Amino acid sequence: MNNLKKLIIFYFSGTGNAKQLALWLSETTINKGINCQVFDIAKTNVRLIDKFSLNTLIVIISPIHGFNFPKITLEFIEHFPKGKNSIVLMNTRAGMRIGRWITPGLTGVAFLLSSFLLKRKGYKIKGQIPFDMPSNWISIHPALSKKTVKYLHEKNYNRLKHHAEIILSGKSDFLAYRDLIQDILVSPVSLAYYIVGRYAFAKSFYASVQCNNCGLCIKQCPVNAVIDVKGRPFWTFQCESCMKCMNSCPKKAIETAHGLFAILIISSLTVTSLLYQHIKNYIQSELINFTLSTIIFIVFLWILYRIQHLLLQNKFVGNIISLLSFTHYKFWGRYKSIPDKKWKK
Ligand SMILES: Cc1cc2nc3c(=O)[nH]c(=O)nc-3n(C[C@H](O)[C@H](O)[C@H](O)COP(=O)(O)O)c2cc1C
Ligand code: SF4
Ligand code: SF4
Repeated sequence: MNNLKKLIIFYFSGTGNAKQLALWLSETTINKGINCQVFDIAKTNVRLIDKFSLNTLIVIISPIHGFNFPKITLEFIEHFPKGKNSIVLMNTRAGMRIGRWITPGLTGVAFLLSSFLLKRKGYKIKGQIPFDMPSNWISIHPALSKKTVKYLHEKNYNRLKHHAEIILSGKSDFLAYRDLIQDILVSPVSLAYYIVGRYAFAKSFYASVQCNNCGLCIKQCPVNAVIDVKGRPFWTFQCESCMKCMNSCPKKAIETAHGLFAILIISSLTVTSLLYQHIKNYIQSELINFTLSTIIFIVFLWILYRIQHLLLQNKFVGNIISLLSFTHYKFWGRYKSIPDKKWKK
């Protein structure tokens, strides 16, 4: 029997997709006469969360980054208080459109890892549901057209309502199981992204000469990853590539240094592999060699990014770097989830 009294939603969102899902779920829940509260993970101190009352269902919603939940979501789950409530996990992934077909994203290990952490705390996992919202990863592909974004929003809104009916009636919903095999197959990539990839992507951002130093990117970053270095925004390794800053900059000055990034990565990899050949002669353990190579790669990336930051002070060099970035050109665009009033009839 279902005796649900309250729904609590925790979400993390870079460009608004996961937030939109949280708001749709909240709206559906309240319309059913059930009490509902929504919390932004980036603004919630997990250590201050009290135990949840019985008959409260918890929902955690987050985007997928590199076939996993981003670090901020994983840390939130890791420090979540112990409890015996039921939890439903939802994610927003990279959806795209071919005709009327929505191409699905990939969840990877996000649900498996979070379910494991939450079960150890005593919770009962009642659902794992992916939603293919518009892909926001505009470092690697142009922003989707407005028409596609509206289409994906509408489809996901209807899907959310369908899944909300199931979970609010107390039933389990494990739609994610249909992707289990490919999710497990990509787990090595998710590990590589977590250990190295995300640090590399953190260093792909820079502020072009268009930047007027308004400070918005520094203020709005959910993980305080942007700092001011010599009067210009500087992306630290804390950056989770959530894309919020890039899509919110009023001057569209935040770009991905495609040309320079390629040079940065190729030279970092070359130096790392040369040093690796040398280290191999002295250290036999593959694990130690891998760890050392990763550290060398990240340190080299850090040095080159510092140099790039200094070079950007020169307007001429700054313009050349921008010319080598796809994100500099209008056709590439920017992405933000669109509010309901812009697509609901
Ligand atoms: C750095 C980065 C990595 C991503 N990795 C994945 C991925 O592994 N699988 C996937 O389906 N989508 C991936 N995406 C797409 C986002 O998960 C997706 O667009 C999501 O809906 C964004 O939600 P948000 O607007 O709440 O931030 C990635 C996006 C970014 C920025
Ligand atoms: S938001 Fe844009 S214009 Fe403002 S400081 Fe950041 S990069 Fe510069
Ligand atoms: S620096 Fe930008 S992309 Fe990185 S976490 Fe902060 S807002 Fe997100």
